[in-house]
Amino acid sequence: MKTLTGFILGLIALPALFALAGVLGWLPSTATATPPGWESSFGMKALDASLEKRSDKLSNPIDPKDAASLAAGKKIYAYNCAGCHG
Ligand code: HEC
Repeated sequence: MKTLTGFILGLIALPALFALAGVLGWLPSTATATPPGWESSFGMKALDASLEKRSDKLSNPIDPKDAASLAAGKKIYAYNCAGCHG
């Protein structure tokens, strides 16, 4: 019983301490901070798995050899994507 009580208190104490640290302003809040390697690695794996799962049954409805479609896509990419993806 003591072990179970200690375990449950531990489960509550850790998030409570984390919340307290946040309220006291001890957690970093800069958006430009470089994320730790484990976070980037986990995030990229989750992103890849999610995209693969969601794109599994999709097919491209646009003919990839159609010049007008390619030009329109190039324009959309330049406006909406190139800022981040180069
Ligand atoms: C505000 C910045 C931003 C914009 C704008 C943006 N993206 Fe992204 N995109 C990201 C980030 C960050 C990722 C995740 C990291 C990565 O793969 O580079 C990502 C990931 C992706 C991926 C998955 C890549 C992979 O490695 O699996 C695709 C595909 C993609 N973006 C396509 C697009 C397209 C198409 C557009 C325009 C319609 C777009 N993005 C606009 C920031 C952006």
